[in-house]
Amino acid sequence: MGAVCSLLTLALLLNRCGESTNADVPKLAPTQPNESSELAHAMRVLDAELMELKSIFGQTESAWDGATISSLDLNQLEPTDSSMLVEGYTAYAIAFSKQVDAFNLGPNAQTYDGVVTGCLNCHQRACPGPLERISKRLIE
Ligand code: HEC
Repeated sequence: MGAVCSLLTLALLLNRCGESTNADVPKLAPTQPNESSELAHAMRVLDAELMELKSIFGQTESAWDGATISSLDLNQLEPTDSSMLVEGYTAYAIAFSKQVDAFNLGPNAQTYDGVVTGCLNCHQRACPGPLERISKRLIE
């Protein structure tokens, strides 16, 4: 792969995966105007769910009774750019959905942090931009 290509890929990754609430406005992808990808949208939904769960954690003993995280098949959702589907992506997505299942069966700090770890594991490879933001979701 040439230097220009790697630079472009890097620019794309930084742009799409950047730490920004406005990241849904693609600047380098005129072929995908206005719309954020299905995957980016799902990520924002999941992130909002984590924020909500973390904010009520421990407030009362029953705060998390019946709490759930959306069970999404990330392998079925289109990313902005196929370069985001790095080697191992499918496995990360499957591992992540198992963490979500575990949380939904038994919502507690450990299973919750397991979910966040599942986010972080995939992001380390596929989309490093939001790593710092995601680590703030950890409880312990
Ligand atoms: C299997 C891999 C994988 C997992 C698991 C995963 N992500 Fe992502 N995430 C991605 C990819 C790839 C993108 C870039 C999507 C795009 O731009 O199309 C992304 C994008 C994002 C974004 C930026 C969205 C935007 O506005 O453009 C946030 C925030 C995010 N993820 C948070 C999370 C959180 C929180 C979790 C766990 C609940 C999570 N991700 C789990 C791969 C993953």
